[in-house]
This record gives sequence, structure tokens and C-alpha cells, in this order.
Amino acid sequence: MLHSNLSINEKGHLCLAGRDVCELAERYGTPLFLMDEERIRRNARTYIDAMAEFMPEGSRPLLASKSCCFKRLYEIVAEEGMGTDLVSPGELYTAAAAGFPLENAFFHGNNKTDADIEYAISSGVGYFIVDNREELDAINETAREKGIVQKILLRLSPGIDPHTQKKISTGKVDSKFGTAIETGQAVELCRYALTLEAVALKGFHCHIGSQIFEYSSFADAAEIMLRFIRELYDDCGFETEMLNLGGGFGVRYVESDPEIDYRENIKGLAGVIDRLCGRLSVKKPSILMEPGRSIVADSGVTVYSVGSVKTITGYKSYVSVDGGMPDNPRYALYESDYTCLVANKADEEADFVATVAGRCCESGDLIQEDVALARPERGDYLAVLVTGAYNYSMASNYNRIPRPPVVMVNEGKDYVAVKRETFEDLLRNDI
Ligand code: LLP
Repeated sequence: MLHSNLSINEKGHLCLAGRDVCELAERYGTPLFLMDEERIRRNARTYIDAMAEFMPEGSRPLLASKSCCFKRLYEIVAEEGMGTDLVSPGELYTAAAAGFPLENAFFHGNNKTDADIEYAISSGVGYFIVDNREELDAINETAREKGIVQKILLRLSPGIDPHTQKKISTGKVDSKFGTAIETGQAVELCRYALTLEAVALKGFHCHIGSQIFEYSSFADAAEIMLRFIRELYDDCGFETEMLNLGGGFGVRYVESDPEIDYRENIKGLAGVIDRLCGRLSVKKPSILMEPGRSIVADSGVTVYSVGSVKTITGYKSYVSVDGGMPDNPRYALYESDYTCLVANKADEEADFVATVAGRCCESGDLIQEDVALARPERGDYLAVLVTGAYNYSMASNYNRIPRPPVVMVNEGKDYVAVKRETFEDLLRNDI
């Protein structure tokens, strides 16, 4: 199937990590987020091992918390030795509550408030990834008041369009993130940062976008960053310790997406970085990456119950499920591709073309349009594959729908990592 942790058992049911997803849906109810713990660990180890083997000393991956964020996940990736990137005090709070070693946490965001800065410094976050000058001043001021020297990286925009979707491309000069190299503002910001007493500049960050399937776009970004690092050295003798190249590689959501060998791509990227450092006579910085989806996406399957199946004669068919944009807004937002199948008929021919619709009172609430399914009936289980990233983390209570639980499967066992929300939870803050 699409990924090696997916299979079909003798009952014709879809299995995740060898576990019958229909049985799990029976036990935990639907909608249900399932995640395969071993797959998360394996993906984490692939990055950790390849970066340690091929890249300069100290190179390592950081989990992009935005892709998925709950306490148990932080425990898992911390056990494997990943750091993390955080974009909000809420993510930081969750990581801290999980006992995540915050010295390995990098605090992002293009608009950190004074309260965020205060909270992150008090929590002992390892590094700030500084977006702009105002923020730099605010961090310096707070660190000075607290009598510490805060380690920072500066987020720069390398001016690259990696041919990914507009809404998920972030490295262009006119993006809202970071400080532009091309305009000369980045050099100025570095010179300024070096004059401040309560921050210690350790290096630079850039992020060009998501769903990147081969390393050439990362290599292009690395080249721009390393040239910048060289120029900065010539300018003021600053030696860069860390270069953070942002998010990870793409993920296979549907059969037509390429299969990607992360290890080979990391090796290829490492080779380019090595040669560039040689050519530019730059002392090799340790390399960081911030993979999100390539750590968690293929660990996840969402299971829904099928409700109404409706054919509009001469037009199209709809299969409605008991979730939708509140648990997976990605089709509504980006028209993201997903693989859908009837989990209890996984061995039957998929000859019924239908649009999978959610339960919200909104016509854009779709999971996928015009997909071929085994003929679905009310009460069947519909599975959406590769939903481990940006589903739970982007879930909402739209239409006052409680969020589904996250159930982990591991070594033949299963456990609740995040409980299902209740109606009482929905009223928690109402007065
Ligand atoms: N680092 C930074 C600075 C990022 O902006 C992102 C993603 C990542 C790391 C992780 O990228 P990944 O390895 O997961 O591709 N919500 C959207 C994507 C927007 C996130 C953009 N930033 C989605 O559902 O696809």
C-alpha cells in the first residue's frame, strides 16, 4: 500500500502497524485519529542518524511542533533525541508539561509578543529564532533584565520560491517571515545583533516551504545562506555556529506523489553543503532541520463512520462522514490530496466515485473530491490515510464539534494519547 505500515488483513480490513483499524474504531468510536508510534520513532531516527552521519558535528533535526503537538508526542521524540521548534507559548507550555528538555527548543514566530518573550525566557528555552529588529530589541531587553545572555538565530529570507503551493511557501523576499538578504537588511541586522549584550548570535535560519521532494531546493537555500555567512565573516569576522535550513522533506499522501528516501536526500544535501563550505572557505556550521510532516504524517490514519450516501442523478455522489473540516481543514484550505478508502472493504474493488464530505454546515467542508471507493454504506468505516501531520494540530471546534481523540498503536498495543473532547469540554470557558 501507500506506506509500509499499512496493510489489509484476512477480513479485508485496513490495518495500521498490523492493527485492524475497524476494531479500534469499534472500541474508541469515530472520528478517530490513529497514530503509529513506531513509525514516528523510525522517521525521527532516520533524520537523526543521517544528519549525524553525513553532516557536520552537532547537526540534528527539530520536530516542527506545528505539525502535531501533544504531550506524548514530545516524550516520544525526546526519547529518540530530537529537538523541537515551537511557534507559540502554547506549544512551549505543552513541551514543558511533557518534560521536554527545553534547552533543545527553538522558539519561532514572526510576531512574538512581549509576554511570549518573557514566558519563553523564564521557561529556559534554548534558542530564539529572531524574526526582526524590534523583536531583537525586546529579547535583548528582557534577557538583560533577567541577567542572562539569550542564544539566538536570526531568521533570514533567502529569496527562493521552491515551486510549492503559494500558501505554504515562505522563503521569498516579500514573505512575512524573516529579514531579507537581498535588500541588505540582513547584514545590518547581524551587525546590530553583535552589538547587543544580552543576546548571543549563534547562526541563521531560513525556511523555503513545504512538500519539497528532493534536496535541490534545500541546496539552493544552503548556497545562498553560506554565501551570506562568508560575506558576513569578511564584513565583521563573525563565525557562524549553526545553520538551520527549516522544514523537512515532503510526504507521500497519494500514489502519484513520489516515494522519497530521506536518508539519501540528507546525504545528497550534506554533500552539497560540504562542497560549498570548501569552495567558499567557510568553517562548517552544524546543520539543523525542522521536519514536521515527514516525522508524523505517515504515522496517522483518521477513521470516520459513513453516514448518508447520496447520488445526485446525472451529477455526482457524496459520502458524508461524521467529521470533516474541524478535524481536517487541509482540503478546504489547500485542496490537499488524500487517499480515502472504506476501511472494512479494503479488499473490494473501488468502483464508486464520490466526494467525501464532512458534517459541517458549509459546502466547502470536503475531505476529498471524486475519489474511487468500494461501494460505501451507512455504518461503514471510511479511512483517510497519512493524516498524522496538520490534522490534530489544526483541528477546531467549528460547529461546536468536539475534537477526536488521538490513539497510539505500538507493538500490538494501543493507548489513548489525547482524550476525546466532550460536550462539557466545549462549555469549559463559557460563563
Ligand atoms: N519550520 C518552519 C519555519 C515552518 O514554517 C514549517 C512549516 C516547518 C518547519 C515544517 O514544515 P514540514 O516539515 O512540516 O513541511 N499547515 C500547513 C503547512 C504550513 C506550515 C508551514 N510551515 C499544511 O497543512 O500543510
